[in-house]
Amino acid sequence: MPGVSAARAAQALDNGFLADVLDGLSRPRKSLPCKYFYDREGSALFDAICTLDEYYPTRTETALLHDRAAEIAGLAGPGATLVELGSGSSVKVRILLDALDDPAMYVPVDISREHLVAAAARLAGDYPAVTVVPVAADYVRGFALPRGVRPERTVVFFPGSTIGNFRPAEALTFLRGLGQRLGVGARLLIGVDLRKDRRILEAAYNDAAGVTAAFNMNLLARINRELSGTFDLTRFAHRAHYDAVRGRIEMHLESLVPQTVRVAGRPFRFAAGETIHTENSYKYSIGGFRRMAARAGWATERSWTDADGLFSLHWMVWRG
Ligand SMILES: C[S@@+](CC[C@H](N)C(=O)[O-])C[C@H]1O[C@@H](n2cnc3c(N)ncnc32)[C@H](O)[C@@H]1O
Repeated sequence: MPGVSAARAAQALDNGFLADVLDGLSRPRKSLPCKYFYDREGSALFDAICTLDEYYPTRTETALLHDRAAEIAGLAGPGATLVELGSGSSVKVRILLDALDDPAMYVPVDISREHLVAAAARLAGDYPAVTVVPVAADYVRGFALPRGVRPERTVVFFPGSTIGNFRPAEALTFLRGLGQRLGVGARLLIGVDLRKDRRILEAAYNDAAGVTAAFNMNLLARINRELSGTFDLTRFAHRAHYDAVRGRIEMHLESLVPQTVRVAGRPFRFAAGETIHTENSYKYSIGGFRRMAARAGWATERSWTDADGLFSLHWMVWRG
């Protein structure tokens, strides 16, 4: 992965937004990359989702981390550097920082720049002995790790089942690139949502309070704010359903009427009922995820799940 400074990475992201939106809305099946959910508003809405009754992943993964914290600390060893991908509000990592033996450095990597900087400042205040180095970047495009980070001391923390936003073949490529970038001996602690009853899955993405709907809709509001978009939010609706064959939740924004919307002056025609596909969230079996990671070069040393088999955590080592 090429080295990029935080400021340059942020600028590249801004430039890419317009091109990606024009491209995604020009396709026969309209789609937008889910990474663009996360501006300041989107990150705050995601935090609100994490507190919802229906959204079992956050509380289940958090409980797993609490239960396994001592074991994870033993595996990580003293003086570890934690690199968190898609760190958001850096809440879960506190469980690890509290348990680890003298953690040296914490490197939160996130695309949502303002949210990242604020979360990193709060964390640095609460953990004065830990060097906190926030990196604002798209982790798919690449990011530079601070100098002196040693692979055998590094633990990559990738919680929240964010890996599920990649198609499985892309997840494999991403995990392989991550291992190659970090080097032999690097460790990965990754949270992965599991396949389960459709009703539980669909409720998690269609909460009664409408927070997930607001999160999805914020993408259109962001296009209006940043790209001179003319989306009328009352003429679109949030949709989420589970595709059991593909093993994924799909999120869409459905046009409720025939309409034309402009983005940066360019017109885009929508039929009534036509959707913009905004997110996939793949669900795995424990064995299926481990096999995919093994093909990418990561050997699983531990897998943990809750009593109801809702969510999984995996400790993996890069073998190359
Ligand atoms: C599902 S949230 C998970 C947040 C937190 N880690 C958790 O477990 O609750 C995904 C996070 O990844 C970030 N993110 C999404 N795509 C990204 C990308 N391509 N590069 C860097 N960060 C990304 C988002 O800004 C967001 O904070």
